[in-house]
Amino acid sequence: MTLANIPEIMESLPVETRFTEFPLRQYGGFWLLEVMLNGVAAAETSFQPRPSDILLSSFPKCGTTWLKALAFATLNRSTYPPSDEHHPLLEHNPHDLVGFLEIYPKLELYESLPSPRLLSTHLPYSMLPHRIREQETGCRLVYIYRDPKDAMVSMWHQNKKEKKNRLTFEEMFDMFCEGRCVVGPQWCHAGEYWDESQARPEKVLFLMYEDLLRDTVGNLRTLAEFMGCGFSRQEEDDGIVQQIVELCSLNNLKNLNVNKSGTTLLGISKDGFFRKGGTGDWSNHMSPEMAARLDKIVKERLEGSGHPI
Ligand code: A3P
Repeated sequence: MTLANIPEIMESLPVETRFTEFPLRQYGGFWLLEVMLNGVAAAETSFQPRPSDILLSSFPKCGTTWLKALAFATLNRSTYPPSDEHHPLLEHNPHDLVGFLEIYPKLELYESLPSPRLLSTHLPYSMLPHRIREQETGCRLVYIYRDPKDAMVSMWHQNKKEKKNRLTFEEMFDMFCEGRCVVGPQWCHAGEYWDESQARPEKVLFLMYEDLLRDTVGNLRTLAEFMGCGFSRQEEDDGIVQQIVELCSLNNLKNLNVNKSGTTLLGISKDGFFRKGGTGDWSNHMSPEMAARLDKIVKERLEGSGHPI
């Protein structure tokens, strides 16, 4: 049994139908949408990573869109200077510039992209194609982590916007705590990437949304170095770093016409990706008891691993 065989056993996998209109299936300890599981199999069979690829990875609602924007603007700055008034990020949603690996129909298209390719995924580390995980053939991965309490609240709001909420906030919270949400459990998702970032720091960079908020410039420098395109002294002096930060800021992206309405190529409301940003919105939705419950679950998984919880 390999990842490529998942579709053959799909019907036999445990199913969860309460979370969204689309069923989740449990495989390898994680709950995934069926479309993602089919994507895992397709990627395992046909995706050929290149050593220059950069794969942006995240649990949903942890800053994926921001990371995509920052990485795209940084990697492509010689072709598209961040001050360009026709910069792709001003005319396209970040998700339409950096596609998801596990969304199956796009795989052939990725073959035709020039190197270095920038791709993204919500898949757990253990479900990435084995070629990506191998030291020799693998590519570089950037993971973005966020306080799961804020991620859960953000998920709630996005589902509400998409009118996919069948659950009350409390019910959804319970499911999140049971790991029964898209690519949940969140703490296992983060734990896998954390462990890999410790074992192979040259291949896996672990960023935190909260750090990125606190020191965007410093973290962007780290990201650029990791992607093999660190900023030169001249670029620093010319204010390129700051320009990228501003181009990708929540305020800027949120107020662009292209992000105010319509859906991404995958049919998700674009404005659902830009809400409040920041940290601590959980306290407006969770009781202290709820927060303590989730913190405890996360701590039990990640404590001792050195993960900065
Ligand atoms: P909130 O719902 O807490 O506001 P994802 O991109 O993984 O779906 O995550 C969405 C979360 O990131 C949302 O959080 C959203 O507001 C926030 N976000 C999106 N773009 C951002 C940016 N440029 N800077 C900071 N936060 C951003």
